Amino acid sequence: MSTPTHQLNKSSLFLRNKATAKAPANIAFIKYWGKADAELNLPLTDTISMNLSACLTTTTVEFNHSFQQDKFTLNRQKLTLPSKLVNHLDRIRRLAHIKPRAKITSSNNFPAGTGIASSASGFAALTLAAAAAADLKLSALQLSALARAGSGSAARSIPTGFVVWEKGHDHASSFASSLYPPHHWHLIDVIAIVSSQEKTTTSTDGHQLASTSPYFKLRLKQLPHRIIQVGQALKTKNLQLLGETIETEAIDLHLIAMSSQPPVFYWEPATLQLIKLLPQWRSRGLPVYFTLDAGPNPHLITEAKYQVKLLNQLHQLKFINQLIVNRVGEGARLIPNPRS
Ligand code: DP6
Repeated sequence: MSTPTHQLNKSSLFLRNKATAKAPANIAFIKYWGKADAELNLPLTDTISMNLSACLTTTTVEFNHSFQQDKFTLNRQKLTLPSKLVNHLDRIRRLAHIKPRAKITSSNNFPAGTGIASSASGFAALTLAAAAAADLKLSALQLSALARAGSGSAARSIPTGFVVWEKGHDHASSFASSLYPPHHWHLIDVIAIVSSQEKTTTSTDGHQLASTSPYFKLRLKQLPHRIIQVGQALKTKNLQLLGETIETEAIDLHLIAMSSQPPVFYWEPATLQLIKLLPQWRSRGLPVYFTLDAGPNPHLITEAKYQVKLLNQLHQLKFINQLIVNRVGEGARLIPNPRS
């Protein structure tokens, strides 16, 4: 059958199709900062992350011929679709050879305005729900690559547990896969919210500026060794090796940001106030280490057995607004559609 007829048939039969997915945010131990290809979100390095059990986005996508335009609701608020999101929906429609407009209903379980990036969980949930609603048959690796095209870090929110995103060299070869399931190592990530202000430079803009830092090339040289160290630490469950490596890596990202042209300062005074306490806590028998995203809120990484001790310390600090305790999370999954 010729392609136009086939498309017409599929399109006209496609009256209502709906799916819902849940996906976690993730915290990078080795960071994606700077792109080899900004259109495709191809990174310059492999990156490694852990999914966050308590920071989830749930998204329902419905394609329907009767919809006049794409519609987007986030946390019960009707919003204009950001262009990144429209482009991603178009990408999925092209892949599936379908035309109908979509209704996207999305919610984050982590409180709005906490400075937690929802782009990874958001694009992972959207990709899985939209692909299912459009009846696309994709492997887990293809889904991860597709999520990456929406927002790079979303590639890592598709597989479960501890995840590696191989940088690849084109769309098909740049995807994430699971290194270890969540139960491999009972790590926790306690996010200390010290500032809820919206950041003025988005990650996407920060990526673009990264190569203007004189230290950027040096960072790229150091990364292969650092990646091996994180791999080794995860394999042998060596918290000190993991911790020391991720602290250096996080400082590096912010060093690049602060020395970009123009410079980007994501830290707040309270960021430094908190991370300067960690060596003292460690010397008193609490092995906790920090990492940071492109924002001011430290992610404190330790083993689950130290959770009570860590929370006791954190509860004494008046400058912390809120704490979010994460275990190692599962990847993106389909769930039943909510009743509408
Ligand atoms: C600092 O994935 O948000 O969190 O691909 O432009 O959407 P885009 O960028 P994004 O960048 C995340 C940057 C980071 C580090 C990381 O998660 O690896």
